[in-house]
Amino acid sequence: MRVILLGPPGAGKGTQAVRIAEVFGIPHISTGDILRANVRAGTPLGLEAKRFMDAGDLVPDEVIIGMVGDRLTEPDADEGFLFDGFPRTVPQAVALEELLVGRETPLDVVLRLAVAKAEVVERLTGRRTCSQCGRIFHLRFDPPTEAGRCDDCGGELQQRDDDTEDVVLNRLEVYASQTEPLEHFYWERGLLRDVEATGSPDEVFASADAILREYGGPATV
Ligand code: AP5
Repeated sequence: MRVILLGPPGAGKGTQAVRIAEVFGIPHISTGDILRANVRAGTPLGLEAKRFMDAGDLVPDEVIIGMVGDRLTEPDADEGFLFDGFPRTVPQAVALEELLVGRETPLDVVLRLAVAKAEVVERLTGRRTCSQCGRIFHLRFDPPTEAGRCDDCGGELQQRDDDTEDVVLNRLEVYASQTEPLEHFYWERGLLRDVEATGSPDEVFASADAILREYGGPATV
C-alpha cells in the first residue's frame, strides 16, 4: 500500500503514522524525522536544513526530493510506504508522481487529517518527544507516567526547537500557502480522503483504519 498523510503541523500525522505502519506493515517515512536525524548527526544536509526548520520554513524542494528518492531505493519501500510530511509543495508532489510512474507503483490514497488551528497550537506547544526512541507524548493529552521520562525506554523527553508558539504560527502560515494547494492536486486525481482528526488518537486511528482497509489488508505477521 502506498499512502500519504497530509495535514497541518500538529494534525497528528506522526502519532497516526506509527500505528498505521505497524498495523499495515509498511515503512513510515517522515521527512521531518530524517531531517532531524541529520541535524543531530551534524551532516551537511542537517546543517543546511536546520536554519529553515528552526524558523518553521520549508527546506528547499531539491534537497527534499533527492532525500526521498534515495529513501525509496531502500528495499523496505518496495512493497509500499507511508509518507508523513511529504510532499509539502506542488513541485514535490509532481516529482513524487514522476518517480512512482517510473516505478509503475502509483499512489493508493492520500489521507487528509483535518483539525482546527487553536487545537494545533495547543498540541504542538505541549508536545514532548523521547530523545532516545522518538515516542511522542503530550503534557496534557498523553502525559508520561514520570515527568520528563519516556514510558517505553526511560529516555529524556525534549521539546522540539520548532514547537514554540511563534514558530508554530509561522509553520501554519507556510502550510496554508505552500502545502494546502496539494489538497486540490490530489482531489483532482481522485486520491484524497478525509479523516476527522479532532477526536482521541484511538478514534482518529479507527477512521483512518476503516479507509485504508479499502485499499489493502493489515499485515499478517
Ligand atoms: P515535520 O516534522 O514534518 O513537522 P510537521 O508537519 O509540522 O508536523 P508535526 O510533526 O509538527 O505534527 P504531526 O502532525 O506529526 O503531529 P504529532 O502526531 O506529532 O516537519 C518539521 C520541519 O521539517 C518543517 O517545518 C520543515 O522545515 C522541514 N520539513 C519536513 N518535511 C519537509 C518537506 N517535505 N519539505 C520541506 N521541508 C520539510 O502530534 C502533535 C502533538 O499532538 C503530540 O504531542 C501528540 O501527542 C498530540 N496529539 C496527536 N494526536 C492527538 C489527538 N488526536 N488528540 C490530542 N492530542 C493529539
